[in-house]
Amino acid sequence: MKTAPPPHIHILKSRTEICTEAEVARLVHTFYAAAREDAMLGPVFGREVQDWDEHLATLVDFWSGLLRGTMRYHGKPLAQHAQMEHLTPCMFRRWLTLFFATTESLGNPALQEKADAIALRIAERLWKSFAESHLPGQPA
Ligand code: HEM
Repeated sequence: MKTAPPPHIHILKSRTEICTEAEVARLVHTFYAAAREDAMLGPVFGREVQDWDEHLATLVDFWSGLLRGTMRYHGKPLAQHAQMEHLTPCMFRRWLTLFFATTESLGNPALQEKADAIALRIAERLWKSFAESHLPGQPA
């Protein structure tokens, strides 16, 4: 008699397979195309990013790790954003608005829900760490 696999197998499967690698690449490329065109964020990326191919490849690894558990990203985004000049809470809100619009446009609700929640959590952490190094003594 065939027995069903234990329930945790389904949990693990759905955890690693909410989206494909191609969807991760689409998310990253669509989002950064919009960010580069954006009046508020475009100049920041224009100033900071020297090599777009490398940046996009890094970000695909980052999001693939978070959404698909591929563990390919080993960078230090907190330190990197803390070093940037002139970031504001408004820019983080704009970043999130563009990101949420991008995830919605992909038509994969599981990806959308997970990616949005992660982005929000990380944006809050990045802002706190930026504010601690640039605005010491002020509430973040
Ligand atoms: C105001 C909002 C943000 C701005 C203006 C911004 C801008 C940038 C810039 C200019 C870089 C550097 C690229 C380079 O040197 O090649 C970068 C790297 C990166 N950003 Fe952001 N970012 C923002 C928010 C976020 C958020 C919310 C996340 C995550 C959810 C994120 C994830 C990353 C990662 C993973 C890297 C790569 C770091 C590495 O090279 O290891 N960023 N960002």
